[in-house]
Amino acid sequence: MAHEINNPVNGIINYTQVLLDDAEGSDAAATDILQRIIREGERVAVIVSNLLAFSRQRDEVVGNVKLNEVIEDCVALLHYQLDKDAILLKTELPDELPDLKGNPQQLHQVFLNLLTNARYALNQRYAGKDDNKRIDIASRLIQVDGRPFVETTITDYGVGIPQDVIDRIFDSLFTTKPPGEGTGLGLSISKGLIRDHQGQLHIESVPGHHTTATVVLPVSDSDGDQEERG
Ligand SMILES: Nc1ncnc2c1ncn2[C@@H]1O[C@H](COP(=O)(O)OP(=O)(O)O)[C@@H](O)[C@H]1O
Ligand SMILES: [Mg+2]
Repeated sequence: MAHEINNPVNGIINYTQVLLDDAEGSDAAATDILQRIIREGERVAVIVSNLLAFSRQRDEVVGNVKLNEVIEDCVALLHYQLDKDAILLKTELPDELPDLKGNPQQLHQVFLNLLTNARYALNQRYAGKDDNKRIDIASRLIQVDGRPFVETTITDYGVGIPQDVIDRIFDSLFTTKPPGEGTGLGLSISKGLIRDHQGQLHIESVPGHHTTATVVLPVSDSDGDQEERG
């Protein structure tokens, strides 16, 4: 389970943060090293999560998932990095959204990948601070063919995706990032996981303006009931 590795990693990040709060302003060398430990820790968490997506591919998609909790977990995991990069985050997540049908770890994986991509695109466009260096996350209840779904959009105002690239972004191992920064696995894994959830994942972009990832997931038809699929 990703949690068994990510919990201690989060512990390392949190304890380092305590030391960092002390060192900031008084010890520049220690501050730099402690910040590096936190960044590397967050990288470990994201990489582990991606690798584990493979071993999880046979997991059942069962149970009720609270989407807001999944998204808040992802935001918490990336919080330090987003803060350091001066990336603003605007979330519009209604409290009254119904539970989704699915596997929370897999959905966590998907949203972590989408947010990681958004962050990278924003850092490519803006080295420092900018009012437009922003990610918007919004969810809403929709009906498709008379059945309820939750649609979530993640929009970043980063570099965007050129026309000749967008057809390939869901291909396994396709990346435009240098070695060590991209694996080209994030979107292909995410697409597979969302398909397993009988949902949809689309990405549209206006290069130089924004990129929007849209995730549509079916609402659970029961509260507390565990439904199994074969
Ligand atoms: N939000 C985004 N903004 C700009 N480009 C993106 C975004 N999301 C994905 N891409 C493009 O899609 C490619 C594939 O993404 P992904 O499968 O997550 O692999 P990776 O992030 O490891 O490169 C990226 O290399 C990038 O070119
Ligand atoms: Mg990625």
